[in-house]
Amino acid sequence: MKIAVLPGDGIGTEIVAEAVKVLNVLELPLEMETAPVGGAAYEAAGHPLPEATLKLALQADAVLFGAVGDWKYDKLERALRPEQAILGLRKALGLFANFRPAICYEQLTHASSLKPELVAGLDILIIRELTGDIYFGQPRGRRTAVDGHFPGSEEAFDTMRYSRPEIERIAHVAFQAARKRNRKVTSVDKANVLETFQFWKDVVTEVHRDYPDVELEHMYVDNAAMQLVKAPKKFDVVVTGNMFGDILSDEAAMLTGSIGMLPSASLDKNNKGLYEPSHGSAPDIAGKGIANPLATILSAAMMLKFSLNQPEAAARIESAVQSVLAQGLRTADIWSEGTQKVSTREMGDAVVAAIASSKGTT
Ligand code: IPM
Ligand code: MN
Repeated sequence: MKIAVLPGDGIGTEIVAEAVKVLNVLELPLEMETAPVGGAAYEAAGHPLPEATLKLALQADAVLFGAVGDWKYDKLERALRPEQAILGLRKALGLFANFRPAICYEQLTHASSLKPELVAGLDILIIRELTGDIYFGQPRGRRTAVDGHFPGSEEAFDTMRYSRPEIERIAHVAFQAARKRNRKVTSVDKANVLETFQFWKDVVTEVHRDYPDVELEHMYVDNAAMQLVKAPKKFDVVVTGNMFGDILSDEAAMLTGSIGMLPSASLDKNNKGLYEPSHGSAPDIAGKGIANPLATILSAAMMLKFSLNQPEAAARIESAVQSVLAQGLRTADIWSEGTQKVSTREMGDAVVAAIASSKGTT
């Protein structure tokens, strides 16, 4: 099993190193090869997604990704900015289905900014369409306006668009995921204003006919943003487009109080995937050894489950993470009075130790 390891920028290198350590202790036939991506690749090769990195990702069975981005690249032309690496990988690998679970760990309930009773036991899954919508729609650019409020002035524009097959396939993914959970899908749209999302709503409704055992509700995105902080536990699976999913998944992640704990998977139609923590490169804390590696370690577990068909190894990682939390070990982002503050590396070591001590017992 070949894994492309792309640590990227900021805390990316630190957290990916811990996840690699955890994968190594599992004694699986994994072949891991590392390549630069994002700002690191721009420095090394003049492009955020160099040919060699893309080739490695295309040839691998799965990609383990850290994070990209740093303010110092904000002035570069768009095509050379670190973010283009992750967008380019999603497009080139056809990673249209993005799974972003928001789970509130029992020991971390108090870390949420919401009242504990609102988030205790929270377990929702945001499924974000990842290769369409206004993120990739053409045309886009700048031009001189010929109409609108200020004809003759400079303007910028993007194109929001979805085709029927793009909506159908993500809807199937959502309904199938719901079948393995609580059989409820909330499809989030803006059908009251946008043609693209009236179409989205119509197509999701049609696909739903194949899944009579799953409950479907439709919700406008503004209301969904409100309901997520009002009564988040009412959701099970949320399916939505690329841009709404970007925004709502950050909101949902923060409900758990610990974005440093949340993994994600981005899958193609054959379950080949890219796995990354839900958080970013956090340049402000990079190099300090204080970042939480658990989201990346849990992303590696998702990789074993979804792409590499190793559900038992994935379960070993997940229970090791539960066990280090139960031991009271916390990185700075999830630390609270009465728990023990540990570094990035100490947290990785503790997970490795928990896996090693569980050997033969699972
Ligand atoms: C994410 C990020 C990316 C996105 C950026 C870095 C391009 O915010 O994965 O959610 O907008 O999709
Ligand atoms: Mn985002």
